[in-house]
Amino acid sequence: MTTVRLNSADPVSIDTDALIVGFRSGQDGPVPAVGVEALESAFGGKLAASLDAVGFTGKAGELAKLPTFGSVTASVLVAVGLGDSPGIEGLRRAAGAAVRSVAGVSRAALALPAGTPDEAEAVALGGLLGAYAFSRYRTDGEQKAPVAELTVLSEQGDGVAERAGVLADAVSLVRDLVNTPPSDLWPAKFAEIAEQVGDKAGVSVEVLDDEQLKAGGYGGLIGVGQGSARPPRLVRLSYSHPEASKTLAFVGKGITFDSGGLSLKPSASMDWMKSDMGGAGAVLGALIGIARLGLPVNAVGYLCLAENLPSGTAQRPSDVIHSYSGKTVEVLDTDAEGRLVLMDGIARAAEDQPDLIVDVATLTGAQIVSLGWRTAGVMSNDDAVRELVVEAAGAAGEGAWGMPLPEELRKGLDSPVADIANLQPERWGSMLAAGIFLKEFVPDGVRWAHIDMAGPAYNKGEPYGYTPKGGTGAITRTLIGLAERHASI
Ligand code: BES
Ligand code: MN
Ligand code: ZN
Repeated sequence: MTTVRLNSADPVSIDTDALIVGFRSGQDGPVPAVGVEALESAFGGKLAASLDAVGFTGKAGELAKLPTFGSVTASVLVAVGLGDSPGIEGLRRAAGAAVRSVAGVSRAALALPAGTPDEAEAVALGGLLGAYAFSRYRTDGEQKAPVAELTVLSEQGDGVAERAGVLADAVSLVRDLVNTPPSDLWPAKFAEIAEQVGDKAGVSVEVLDDEQLKAGGYGGLIGVGQGSARPPRLVRLSYSHPEASKTLAFVGKGITFDSGGLSLKPSASMDWMKSDMGGAGAVLGALIGIARLGLPVNAVGYLCLAENLPSGTAQRPSDVIHSYSGKTVEVLDTDAEGRLVLMDGIARAAEDQPDLIVDVATLTGAQIVSLGWRTAGVMSNDDAVRELVVEAAGAAGEGAWGMPLPEELRKGLDSPVADIANLQPERWGSMLAAGIFLKEFVPDGVRWAHIDMAGPAYNKGEPYGYTPKGGTGAITRTLIGLAERHASI
C-alpha cells in the first residue's frame, strides 16, 4: 500500500530516495515546471543542460533518470516531461508514469506544479494510481515493490492528500477485482467482498441469492447464471446522506467470467473475459468512494453478478426468459448476456425512484471497434444527461464520447416469439443496438445513461500514464464525479 502526504519541503534537502521533477518542453530544451532554482544551483546550474545532453526534451510522457552524486539528498533524480501545458490530466499522467518508473525504491518526492488544490490532488492521485501493482499471485520475486511513501511538494493542506487517497483506494479496489482470476472471484465471492468493504465504508449491502432471484422474477440473472455451478447474485449497495436532495442509481455488469455460454467465444477472445465484471467493480468502487468522501447525495448501486458458462444446465439460444420488468426476451445469442443481467438491474434500480440511473458495462466488442481501447461510449435517453456524463468523464481524465440511440435500430431486435430479442441479426451498430435494448427496460420519465467500456476496462497493452497493464478501474472516478455533480450545496 502506497501512502501520500503533502509537504512544503525543499526538493534539495528532502529526505527521500527518488526526486521526481516535472519539466516543460521549452524552445531551447527542457524547462523546470516549478520554481526549482535551488535545485538548479545544487546541480551547479547544469541540470537542464544535462537532461538535454541525454536527449530529454520535456515532451509529455518522457522520462529520464540521473544519478545525483550527492548534489541533493535523493540519490536519483527522475525528470518527467509535461509538454507545453499539461492540464490536470497531464499532471496525473506524468506523476503516474514517473512513480511507476521508480518501483523498487521505498520513498519518492514529486516536484510538479501543485500550487492549486486541483493540481496538488492530480499529482497525488496520479502518483498513487501509478504506484499500483497486483502481486497477489507472484512467488518469483521478479516484480518490483511499489513505492511505499510518496511526498507531493506542495503548500496545499492535508485534505487534498486524503481525497486523493480515497479516489486511489476506490480505483485500486476495482483493479484488484478485475485482475483476480475467475477461479477466485465468482458471484457469491464478489458479493462477500462487497459486504466486507461496504461495511467498512458505511455502505449498506443487501445480497439476493439465486433462490431469492428466482422467487423475485429476475429471469435475466437466472438465465445467464444457470450454466455455472456458481450461481448468480444481485447485490444492492446503498449510501445516504441526511442533507441529500438527489438520488443516483448505478447498475454494473458483473459477469465474473464470460465464456459466451453455449454461443461459445473463440479462445482468443476469452482469455481476458475475467474483466467482464469491470462495470460492477466500478459501481462498488464508486459507492465506497462516495461514502468515504461523505458526499451529500444518496446513492444506490446494483451489482449484477453471474458467471456465463456452457453446461447441461446452461440457457440455450432460442430460450425465452421473463425479465424482472415483466417483458419477455428471446435469447438468440447467449454471448449477449450483459444486457440480460443489466435489464433486471435497471428495472430494479428504477424502483428506488432515482433522479438518474447510470449503467456501466463491458458490453460490446463493437464499442472497441467504434471508439478504440481508451474511449467509452456514452448513450442516454436525455441529451443533457449524456453530456453531463461525458463532461464528468473528461474531468476525471477518463475517455468517453457521446453516442446516439437511433430509433430505427429497434426493429432489428424484434422477435417472432417474445417482446424483444437480445441480438440484432446484423453486426453494424451493435454498440448502439445494445443501448437500444437496455433503453426498453428504463421506465418512461426516468433519466438514464449507459456507459459501454468494453475497451477501457482492461489494458491489454503496455502501461501508460497512471494506467497499469490489466484492470484499469475505468469509470469509477467518473461515477464519483457524477455524484459530486448531484451533491447538495
Ligand atoms: N463481454 C462481451 C463484450 C466484450 C468484448 C467486452 C470484448 C470486452 C472486450 C459481451 O458479453 C459480448 O460477448 N458481446 C458480444 C455481443 C454480441 C453477441 C451481440 C459482442 O460484442 O461480440
Ligand atoms: Mn458475452
Ligand atoms: Zn460479456
